[in-house]
Amino acid sequence: MTERTFSILKPDATRRNITGKINAVIEEAGLRIVAQRRVHLTEAQAKKFYEVHAERPFYGELVAQMTAEPVVVQVLEAEGAVAKYREVMGATNPDNAAEGTIRKLFALSIGENSVHGSDSLENAGIEIAQFFTDADIVG
Ligand code: CMP
Repeated sequence: MTERTFSILKPDATRRNITGKINAVIEEAGLRIVAQRRVHLTEAQAKKFYEVHAERPFYGELVAQMTAEPVVVQVLEAEGAVAKYREVMGATNPDNAAEGTIRKLFALSIGENSVHGSDSLENAGIEIAQFFTDADIVG
């Protein structure tokens, strides 16, 4: 089934000017970038986006990192896009990420791990709606 998933190219990627390199990996994997916008997240936006992690010890640092530099928010489309993008991203901790994955290629640490991708189709819908309207997405 054709799905849409939500992606963020994180501040460590914009800071190092490697968003194009990451997009190349995304596109080579067969994911289509059907919406994309560069945005500097406010603290309120980052806190809301990562609300599920509010009780985790790394929450404060996560919010600080996500608001330190601009990000690129994206909608990616493909057959089975949610699982496909998680495979392309690799494990959250780059030390555990498989060869050829975005995090293996580019991530600096578990916090500065270059990309975020939705963990389920349901969350993809919720996350996409935080940044894009239907009119923004051109499949
Ligand atoms: P992401 O997929 O954006 O979802 C939550 C983020 O928290 C995760 O990627 C990591 O970048 C960040 N993070 C920082 N420390 C940890 C940790 N110990 N465990 C999981 N995620 C962490």
